[in-house]
Amino acid sequence: MIDSYYSSLRFFLHTIALLFSIFNLFNTYASLTPDLCPPDQRDTLLEFKNEFKIRKHDDFLDFDGFWINVTSYPKTESWAISSSDCCNWDGVTCDTKSGKVIGLDLSCSCLHGRLEPNTSLFRLKHLRNLNLAYNNFTFSPLPDKFNTLMWLERLNLSESSLTGQIPTKILQLTNLVFLDLSSYNSFSPSFLLCIENPPLFLPLLARNLRNLRALHMSSVNISSEIPKEFSCIWSLRSLRLEGCNLIGEFPSSVLLLPNLQSIRLDRNLELSGELPDFHGNNSMKILSLLETSFSGNIPDSISNLKHLTFLTLEGSNFSGRIPSSLGELSCLSNLLIAGNHFTGEIPSSIGNLKQLTVFSVGYNKLIGNFPSALLNLTKLRSIHLSSNQFTVQLT
Ligand SMILES: *[C@@H]1O[C@H](CO)[C@@H](O)[C@H](O)[C@H]1NC(C)=O
Ligand SMILES: *[C@@H]1O[C@H](CO)[C@@H](O)[C@H](O)[C@H]1NC(C)=O
Ligand SMILES: *[C@@H]1O[C@H](CO)[C@@H](O)[C@H](O)[C@H]1NC(C)=O
Ligand SMILES: *[C@@H]1O[C@H](CO)[C@@H](O)[C@H](O)[C@H]1NC(C)=O
Ligand SMILES: *[C@@H]1O[C@H](CO)[C@@H](O)[C@H](O)[C@H]1NC(C)=O
Ligand SMILES: *[C@@H]1O[C@H](CO)[C@@H](O)[C@H](O)[C@H]1NC(C)=O
Ligand SMILES: *[C@@H]1O[C@H](CO)[C@@H](O)[C@H](O)[C@H]1NC(C)=O
Ligand SMILES: *[C@@H]1O[C@H](CO)[C@@H](O)[C@H](O)[C@H]1NC(C)=O
Repeated sequence: MIDSYYSSLRFFLHTIALLFSIFNLFNTYASLTPDLCPPDQRDTLLEFKNEFKIRKHDDFLDFDGFWINVTSYPKTESWAISSSDCCNWDGVTCDTKSGKVIGLDLSCSCLHGRLEPNTSLFRLKHLRNLNLAYNNFTFSPLPDKFNTLMWLERLNLSESSLTGQIPTKILQLTNLVFLDLSSYNSFSPSFLLCIENPPLFLPLLARNLRNLRALHMSSVNISSEIPKEFSCIWSLRSLRLEGCNLIGEFPSSVLLLPNLQSIRLDRNLELSGELPDFHGNNSMKILSLLETSFSGNIPDSISNLKHLTFLTLEGSNFSGRIPSSLGELSCLSNLLIAGNHFTGEIPSSIGNLKQLTVFSVGYNKLIGNFPSALLNLTKLRSIHLSSNQFTVQLT
């Protein structure tokens, strides 16, 4: 009797003890589950945050083929030592295993202040993706230590009011896939960024950055020709060099890169070149040569650009007839060729361009009847025909 009483009691106590230790184990486990973010990375992020003031400004009005409003909000404002795991902070991405910060997207974050050469940013050695676009670094020089972030695949410093020379050391970042140093905001003739020695820098860029898919350097003062080495960047999908003071003959082989989807060389008044014979192996969607010195004809082979949606050759020096084969570009929505020296009639095949929304051929030397085929295009919302020699037919 007593025996059994004691054994029950012992059993009871054992059970309690067991439950207790399980509870304890859980507790210990919980307190041992570390924040993913290592403290040194967290401190570096907070340090970076404190290098800048937050200044909410009027939203950036920016140009991306059309005007857009870019809305900003201060992402770093919510960062605090009390909100423990910095891997959950707005704009921060960590490696899921090591917890190292590999992504920092602080674009449009109202950061205001100088980006100093000794910025704590360069201690985030594992960064692969860095986006600081649309902040205001108040005309401080572009720091030359980006090469220390050797794993960078995306570097986006567009529209961030950095000035001075783009350091050649940046070309040591051979993993780069996206490089954006452009600004569109200021169409003013004063440049913020420049390339000091283009004959050295540009071929080196083409040689080193073999994985580059996007190279955006609009409004960087390049003041040089584009070397033919650019046609070796096979991975290139998007090239934007608007308003870069480019000169000389643009290598037409670049226009034949099979992966190229978008090329914009607008507002380079002294950049000459011609359209090559296009062949079937291409991905071109956007071809924009507004206000350049490109000349020659639109080749019949333009019809090989099967994916083309946006063709603008406005304000350049093209001549010859508008090829009838343009009518085969079934995706074409914007056809802007005003302000050249085109002659002859508008081919009736234009009436096949079912997606056409903008048709602009003003200020050429076109003749013939008003192209009535256009009247059947239901998506067309803008036609510009003025200053040609069309026959007026009043019927
Ligand atoms: C941008 O925003 C401003 C102010 O909110 C407005 O006046 C302007 O029309 C907008 N522009 C565009 C292109 O949406
Ligand atoms: C970085 O440089 C600036 C200006 O030279 C200086 O004021 C600041 O104290 C430096 N910061 C660090 C962390 O060394
Ligand atoms: C950036 O800040 C500077 C200095 O405060 C100011 O002059 C400039 O207009 C600002 N730029 C933009 C794009 O807001
Ligand atoms: C750079 O960042 C801006 C803002 O997020 C974005 O609009 C732009 O497309 C980015 N550039 C590239 C090359 O991805
Ligand atoms: C652009 O760079 C060239 C060559 O370095 C220089 O001569 C020119 O003055 C610069 N233009 C502007 C507007 O800064
Ligand atoms: C087309 O381009 C691809 C690369 O995108 C290449 O692999 C292929 O050989 C090319 N084909 C022809 C017929 O040139
Ligand atoms: C335009 O092209 C014609 C030849 O078609 C050439 O004579 C002229 O110099 C060119 N003008 C410019 C500004 O490039
Ligand atoms: C417009 O479409 C109608 C109906 O499909 C067709 O009969 C007519 O010929 C077309 N007009 C022109 C100018 O292509």
